Amino acid sequence: MERKTVTMEKLVALCKARGIIFAGSEIYGGMGNTWDYGPVGVEIKNNVKRAWWKRFVQESDNSYGVDAAILMNSRVWEASGHTTSFSDPKMDCKECKSRHRADTLIEAHSKGKVNPDAMSNAEMEAYIQEHRVNCPVCGKFNWTNIRTFNLMFETSRGVTDESQNKIYLRPETAQGEFVNFLNVQRTTRAKIPFGIAQIGKAFRNEITPGNFIFRTIEFEQMEHQWFCKEGTDEEYYRAFKQRAWQFLLDLGFNKEHLRFKDHDKLAHYAKEACDIQYDFPMGWSELNGIHNRTDYDLSRHQEYSGKSLTYVDPVSGERYIPYVVEYSIGADRLMLAVLSEAYDEETLENGEVRNVMHFHPAIAAYKAAILPLQKNLAPQARELWERLRKLFPVTYDEAGSIGKRYRRQDEIGTPFCLTVDFDSLQDGTVTLRDRDTMQQQRLSPEGVIAYITEKIAF
Ligand code: GAP
Repeated sequence: MERKTVTMEKLVALCKARGIIFAGSEIYGGMGNTWDYGPVGVEIKNNVKRAWWKRFVQESDNSYGVDAAILMNSRVWEASGHTTSFSDPKMDCKECKSRHRADTLIEAHSKGKVNPDAMSNAEMEAYIQEHRVNCPVCGKFNWTNIRTFNLMFETSRGVTDESQNKIYLRPETAQGEFVNFLNVQRTTRAKIPFGIAQIGKAFRNEITPGNFIFRTIEFEQMEHQWFCKEGTDEEYYRAFKQRAWQFLLDLGFNKEHLRFKDHDKLAHYAKEACDIQYDFPMGWSELNGIHNRTDYDLSRHQEYSGKSLTYVDPVSGERYIPYVVEYSIGADRLMLAVLSEAYDEETLENGEVRNVMHFHPAIAAYKAAILPLQKNLAPQARELWERLRKLFPVTYDEAGSIGKRYRRQDEIGTPFCLTVDFDSLQDGTVTLRDRDTMQQQRLSPEGVIAYITEKIAF
């Protein structure tokens, strides 16, 4: 399939104009790199999350969901290693005082040819010196040394401001799954291997956020931890790579726009790790991660909490701390990929260009739009609207020419338009127009329900 002409500017403009995503706190001049989902966007994002949950929890033999608290005991972050190791290498420009990530500077300077992930801080400093990488804000060359900068947002609990009251906004949802490992195992009587999944907010004080909703300071993660026995972990790691890949193909991604990328530098907890990258409008970047986390997390929580997190095999009686294979994907980042993948500008036979979002029908905000051909057909159209919206999200539009109304629905990716016309008064049928082919067919209301129900299945 030919690559579409999507740029970030076009996506941002379309999202703003069509109620998909707005800049956060916009009337106050914005709040750097926070974004608000509008009426259409919240539906799409909820559908993205629903599709993920359905695939990885509902359709799984042995995976269970949790919704853990965002604020956790601070010891959790000591055990997980986040208080000491969750940091970015930052450098300040002594001239204009702007702050930058050394790895991002190197990536931009080398146009992606040098991979800073494989470099130590000293090597990054040497590169920046040797290549005289200037400040991208003021153009001068006068850097501090690299200092590490912890990405966790801090807040405090209670009325006093003493250090023992310091707590963090969680930087990942994963720890909520680890600390509940035995709660879930006991209450579900799950046997190893089994999974715990969660969708929820995470917060990171990113130094160089940007690229629309790609990297933000507040975002949602969809994470799945697979608890298994040591020795089976590598097999499950490979299996999750495939499951994560297949999920994207089923959402309608072109496989030419996806690729695996092994990590050059492993996180402190990982034995093997890779990303699936997507060819975003700004270039190839991480969409999701798959990590073999070994028994690191549960062992650390056992050590720091003093509570046993040992699993006892009900048949053999064997006791062990399970290994974990993690699959983690940002809901907002997947949303950006879904928007980029769906975007199209199609030149019609009459030379007009139509903007159309080719979302999978399961992801589209509205499954259908009801359009009375003329305003005096509104009562019949509204009757159909009331009937259909009990079954799935349906929108209604009676303003403007039918052509303009089709275009508006194409731009937000509504897969089917249902036009109520004068024939509808005679036989109750309506015209169903397909977003992608623009072909039309006449169907009864029952026929419409059956047709759409089949198409929106995921
Ligand atoms: N528990 C493992 C973990 O959090 P990660 O690679 O740091 O791993 C997982 O994050 C996923 O979360 C990423 O692949 C990305 O989709 C999303 N993500 C991470 N940081 C993000 C940010 N600042 N803004 C939006 N999404 C982010």
